[in-house]
Amino acid sequence: MANTPLFWSLISRKYIAAPIANEEVYQDKLTRTRNVLRPEWTMLEIGCGSGNTALAHAPYVSQITACDFSAPMLDHGRTRAANEGVDNVEFIQTAFADLATDPTYDAVLMLSVIHLIPDWKAAIRKAAQLTRAGGVFVSSTVTIDTMPKKMRAIMAVVNALPVLPNIARITRAGLIAELESNGLVIEDNWQQEGHDSVFVIARKPA
Ligand SMILES: C[S@@+](CC[C@H](N)C(=O)[O-])C[C@H]1O[C@@H](n2cnc3c(N)ncnc32)[C@H](O)[C@@H]1O
Repeated sequence: MANTPLFWSLISRKYIAAPIANEEVYQDKLTRTRNVLRPEWTMLEIGCGSGNTALAHAPYVSQITACDFSAPMLDHGRTRAANEGVDNVEFIQTAFADLATDPTYDAVLMLSVIHLIPDWKAAIRKAAQLTRAGGVFVSSTVTIDTMPKKMRAIMAVVNALPVLPNIARITRAGLIAELESNGLVIEDNWQQEGHDSVFVIARKPA
């Protein structure tokens, strides 16, 4: 199965119920992101899933647009926002490809999403367009050359199974080169030992 709304909707219950794979790494990424956010900023999260990250950042910016193409994922985020009295996060159902590049946002986030998109270079190009000058693009992306060996073997199996979305073969250097070729300046380029993803904060010069 390709990376489709149907796939993510079918697994949404399990995905939402599963504990965060590595809480320490997740908290680190939240902190690194918050260090560059400003209270007056707007934020766009692409592929927000169940909305955990958008809701975690909500107190640190003025407004968040959290989008995903899976309705059940978004429903969970909306319910949590209502229960917790969070009123500055808007959940929108859309495929990334259908998202307009106007308006732009001060912070654009793509966490565990870029490697799911077959034309990942086009995805980065669009994310860079969506980032306002002076703002930041924040990503967490699986990279094949820097992930632990064991994970590389798992990825090979995942990519061989037609029921799972393919993971693009992105290298860490290739990812950075693509961000830079879209005019972004790398401020943070971090991978926790033993973790499969590279976390990057890249600024669009003012
Ligand atoms: C691995 S989950 C990551 C969710 C969240 N960003 C996180 O870090 O927990 C990928 C999410 O991206 C969404 N997604 C994948 N491709 C997408 C696309 N092309 N357009 C919109 N949403 C997409 C899926 O529905 C799913 O909720």
